[in-house]
Amino acid sequence: MEHVEKSKGKYKQVLERPYIICHMLTSLDGKIIGDYLEMERADFFIEEYEKIHARYDCNAWMCGRITMETDFTFGHKLNLKQDNIPNIPRTDYVADKGAKSYAIAVDPSGKLGWTQNYIADWNDDRATKEHIVEVLTEQASDAYLAHLKEIGVSYIFGGKERLNFTVVVEKLKNLFSINKLMLEGGGFLNGSFLNEGLIDELSLILVPIADGTSNSVTLFETSSFITNQRPVNFFLKEVEKLDDGGLWMRYVTTN
Ligand SMILES: NC(=O)c1ccc[n+]([C@@H]2O[C@H](COP(=O)([O-])OP(=O)(O)OC[C@H]3O[C@@H](n4cnc5c(N)ncnc54)[C@H](OP(=O)(O)O)[C@@H]3O)[C@@H](O)[C@H]2O)c1
Repeated sequence: MEHVEKSKGKYKQVLERPYIICHMLTSLDGKIIGDYLEMERADFFIEEYEKIHARYDCNAWMCGRITMETDFTFGHKLNLKQDNIPNIPRTDYVADKGAKSYAIAVDPSGKLGWTQNYIADWNDDRATKEHIVEVLTEQASDAYLAHLKEIGVSYIFGGKERLNFTVVVEKLKNLFSINKLMLEGGGFLNGSFLNEGLIDELSLILVPIADGTSNSVTLFETSSFITNQRPVNFFLKEVEKLDDGGLWMRYVTTN
């Protein structure tokens, strides 16, 4: 949603949500995961991915539950006490509204095994401690909400049973002052954002390797979450040749 604001006599459109950049790396056949990433040649492009992430200077990035579990909680399962947990109202919980950077985890039913409220600096290009914000549906258990509160993880609700990402991103702007959000996969989450018309820019690193497998996840996947599938136009803004035959392409959705 947008509103119009007068600035120096001119009218400009102001987004009620962050500007959203989908930043991804794929093989020539559009795969975001696969054996090609295990090849030595891919290491250079993975490093480029991180460097380009830093160039955007966003104060928040978002990933789906599977990516967070693969790369950050490493499948850790919580052993939560279910007895004597009071009913917790399904209202948003802001534990830190002044963080330098936020890591946003889309975890509809509350499965991620966080044990602290931040992701520590994990490479040279992400050298800031990032406060974790969980995006939940109201189906998340009281025990899980109590755990998040105890360790100081913020959470917001994006729907009763299904997530509405338009609501989610407006909350991110209003509650945490997030003006520029980097959406970083996986393919199912990207597909949902594409479907809701929430991608302003695509930052795509093309790795010159064809993965060759037919069943791994692609850049934008479809799923039962998606209700209104349709093609989406992108317009080329910039293209940069990377070493060793790679490309960095920037596309926008509004010409
Ligand atoms: N190449 C790259 O640039 C890149 C970048 C990021 C990630 N990756 C890779 O991508 C892989 C994972 O991708 P993925 O697409 O399988 O998983 P994903 O998008 O990371 O996570 C999918 C999960 O997020 C939740 N979710 C996503 N969209 C939802 C929606 N509209 N409504 C409700 N819940 C939603 C669901 O969680 P529940 O199942 O709990 O309901 C869903 O199963 C990982 O291996 C990761 O390493 C690659």
